[in-house]
Amino acid sequence: MQIKKVGVVGCGLMGSGIAQVCAEAGYEVLVREVAQDLLDKGLKRIGGFLQKGVEKGKLTAERKAEVLGRLKGTTKVEDLGGCDLVIEVVTENLAVKRELFQALDGVCGQDTIYASNTSSLSVTEMAATTARPTRFVGLHFFNPVPLMKLVEVVRSPLTDPAVFEAAYAFGRSLGKVPVKATDKTGFIVNRLLVPYLLDAVRALENGVGSVPDIDEGMKLGCGYPMGPFTLLDFVGLDTTYFIANILFEEFRETRFAPPPLLKRMVLAGHLGKKSGRGFYTY
Ligand code: 3HC
Repeated sequence: MQIKKVGVVGCGLMGSGIAQVCAEAGYEVLVREVAQDLLDKGLKRIGGFLQKGVEKGKLTAERKAEVLGRLKGTTKVEDLGGCDLVIEVVTENLAVKRELFQALDGVCGQDTIYASNTSSLSVTEMAATTARPTRFVGLHFFNPVPLMKLVEVVRSPLTDPAVFEAAYAFGRSLGKVPVKATDKTGFIVNRLLVPYLLDAVRALENGVGSVPDIDEGMKLGCGYPMGPFTLLDFVGLDTTYFIANILFEEFRETRFAPPPLLKRMVLAGHLGKKSGRGFYTY
């Protein structure tokens, strides 16, 4: 099962990061966005990171040109027909994802592997409605993709073991460390990370400490690169709230229930770094 050409559907923060690491690893990459301006924005982001690398002497101008030469963009799903692997990185909405995979079924060859970068939706539920449920895996990358070493490789009960191994080897070929997970909501990382982030909000609600003190406590006391509130602002409060609700729906355990403060902040539009205000102001 040789993967040479990779399709990445979605060129936002995660999609552009995934496209970047695939092109850096030597794959031919075709990125699809719904509109030309979104595509241009995502490709510009990648070019900007590579240019910074050149300016800092981390990579040569030739290497940058070589990586960008492997990266093409399109707004048409039909163009993804020649891809050996298509990684879906669109909005976390099951209906939108299903619609995309149905469109891909009409254009991709029978051997194409489908992967979803979903953080919390069911891989099984997505796979089951495609024409190739056995050739479907989760490939869950972490933000910022070029810097984070992990990729969770997720199998559903329908995944062909050979496809799973190919996806695992693909993750490794990107220079990432793949871990194997089964399709249980949140997989490994979000199942453990999200309750921790929610607990930090509960600790704040309970007056245990201030935002900076809780952050410093976890950063310096546990050696985490970011405190929980910095990380919440980085991931997005809306994204965390969304994932928490899905985990709670699935397991009905209070540790997954989003605390009222988180909900109020999301309702107020204080979504973290992306909105200029979250637990900190940017
Ligand atoms: N491509 C290439 N280079 C990049 C880049 C990119 N996309 N983004 C940043 N860089 C470069 C920077 O320019 C910088 O270069 P320099 O060292 O030459 O200045 C270098 O990479 C390091 O960047 P930073 O200085 O910002 O790196 P830090 O050492 O401060 O680390 C961090 C930043 C990696 C974000 C670190 O703080 C960290 O690990 N934080 C935790 C992040 C985390 O937990 N992410 C997971 C979130 S959960 C998730 O994603 C799952 C989802 O489902 C919710």
